[in-house]
Amino acid sequence: MADLLSPLSLPGLTLRNRIVMPPMWSGQATSDGFVTANIIEYHRRRAAAGCGLIIVEHAFVHTSGRHTPTQIGVHSDATIEGLARLASAVKGEGAMVCLQLAHAGSRSSSRVLGMRPLAPSSVRHPYEPDGDVPEAMGPGALTEVVRAFGDAAERARTAGFSAVEIHAAHGFLLSQFLSPLTNLRTDEYGGPVENRCRLHLAVLNEVRGRVGADVPVFVRLGAHDETPGGLELDDACRVARWLADAGAALIDVSGGLQGSRGVGRGAAYFVPYAQAIKAAVSVPVMVTGGISEPDLADRTVREGWADLVGVGRAMLNDPDWARKAIAHLSMGRRPS
Ligand SMILES: Cc1cc2nc3c(=O)[nH]c(=O)nc-3n(C[C@H](O)[C@H](O)[C@H](O)COP(=O)(O)O)c2cc1C
Repeated sequence: MADLLSPLSLPGLTLRNRIVMPPMWSGQATSDGFVTANIIEYHRRRAAAGCGLIIVEHAFVHTSGRHTPTQIGVHSDATIEGLARLASAVKGEGAMVCLQLAHAGSRSSSRVLGMRPLAPSSVRHPYEPDGDVPEAMGPGALTEVVRAFGDAAERARTAGFSAVEIHAAHGFLLSQFLSPLTNLRTDEYGGPVENRCRLHLAVLNEVRGRVGADVPVFVRLGAHDETPGGLELDDACRVARWLADAGAALIDVSGGLQGSRGVGRGAAYFVPYAQAIKAAVSVPVMVTGGISEPDLADRTVREGWADLVGVGRAMLNDPDWARKAIAHLSMGRRPS
């Protein structure tokens, strides 16, 4: 039976265990979106503690998709050098390293972008009440964004990342396409869920084509908008299946149109979503959210609720979380 410390093989890579540092924006990039020494150290330290996988914080794939002025970018070839130093530092500690590729859509603002944000439809983001009314994306913008995800993925591969993750959660652009609250389109990208995930499949296809078979592509999927009228679990399960059928190597389950910071929630709050998605797909599933105790993380894998466990705020607060968890769980397994 697999547990938290069991290795896991994915197409193109093997993880030494199932402990994951999930993507967590550190707010320390330069104003050009370049990686800094602090960002390298932030990830390296958690890799050195023993994580199997580090998913590096969201990186904007196109200048129209930048979320904050301190976010890292993978939008130009000039970012590759810093990203390569980051990937090498993490891999040097024995962890695998994945880059999260993101476009914020209407979760960004004209203040950050110097232009109106893009979105599926011209409706204000439900969780950005003071935000701009975004510009609905036309065919040209859709093609450009798909290409930007592909270009970004190729840069990540060149920089030495072991995997890439497409951010389709937390009310970012792809999550906006999936949500009936933010996608009011009447073309082939709007209406039924098959249409609302058309951009996901186009992005996945482009990214896979650009990175090749030896760099697995993950999708962080918002499994529920947790907002009346928004995306619900049944539709998310169907989307997860289509993504897996189209070659996603792992579904990283999250949720919430407003973003997931887990504040005020109980333990393991996304496990029910992960269980449903796991029943719908045959690729590995990762879950993050309110899992801060090693025994609970271990149980999540042992019970088959998910195959990998992301530990966010607990690892933010304690860079040595993985080392302590490994010591604790290894001790419990020593024969008496
Ligand atoms: C400071 C901070 C930054 C975050 N940045 C990202 C991000 O860049 N991309 C993402 O998908 N999720 C991001 N998240 C969400 C986390 O990956 C995680 O899903 C969330 O914190 C819930 O897990 P936890 O209860 O273990 O903290 C962030 C969370 C925090 C606290």
